[in-house]
Amino acid sequence: MPVFQTQNALQIELKKAQNQSKKIGFVPTMGALHMGHLSLLEESLSENEITVLSIFVNPTQFNNADDLNKYPRTLEKDVELVNKLNKNIFIYAPSVSDIYEGNTVSASFDYDGLEHQMEGKHRPGHFDGVGTIVKKLFEIVKPTNAYFGEKDFQQLQIVRKLVSKHKIPVNVIPCKIYRETSGLAMSSRNERLSEKARNESKLIHKILLEAKDKFRLKSAKKVSQFVVSEFNKHKNFTLEYFEIAEEETLLTCKRKIKNKNYRGFIAVFIENIRLIDNISLK
Ligand code: PAF
Repeated sequence: MPVFQTQNALQIELKKAQNQSKKIGFVPTMGALHMGHLSLLEESLSENEITVLSIFVNPTQFNNADDLNKYPRTLEKDVELVNKLNKNIFIYAPSVSDIYEGNTVSASFDYDGLEHQMEGKHRPGHFDGVGTIVKKLFEIVKPTNAYFGEKDFQQLQIVRKLVSKHKIPVNVIPCKIYRETSGLAMSSRNERLSEKARNESKLIHKILLEAKDKFRLKSAKKVSQFVVSEFNKHKNFTLEYFEIAEEETLLTCKRKIKNKNYRGFIAVFIENIRLIDNISLK
């Protein structure tokens, strides 16, 4: 499988496919690939003639230098894993300068308020960084279909908004959360957990399932109080937020409205590592 380090080299190859009107699927990642990423790749492979996988730890979406430094970088292992699939996948693993050309800053985006909720509140500038890189990558790859996991549900909605506001010709395809057998949502950050913490982190999904069950009869406020009280019992976790929000607007649910779809969103620290997850409350 070819690994392209520059956008020029990638685009020369992609041009051939574009000239033949081949469908290009795109899976953007920051590497440290896991089964969740592989499930996105599989979906792309089944729906497109060519799949491009980008591996790029994007500095402008990190609001915390320590988090950026510690983000796992395992390019060799990632390439090996993709090669084992033995499929037509182009890997694009650029340097920071290939992407940012000496100006490593974010553009600023207006996502109609989606950026002010949850992750946006707790990670200032994060979604400007995400918008900047996703827009650049879309311009480089020009995919027909792009695959985003629902684990980062807010990011998925932000990307949909970016695409519609900037009239980018790509279909954004949502992909279900891929979980470890314990229920823990797959994430590159799980790699940094000790075995003990990884095992304990199954609590996150367990509590989300309980919250879903309670939401059938109880108010959003009561369910949120339940989640807070559960995490208070487990001192090795620090709950950053639990929020029930409407899926389209991501506005906090104050009062349940019929026919609206809600999700429970959570961010929690264990061993100083920040994990996020969410669950549909339908
Ligand atoms: O979800 C991610 O891994 C990143 O936010 C993305 C979409 C690859 C942009 O850097």
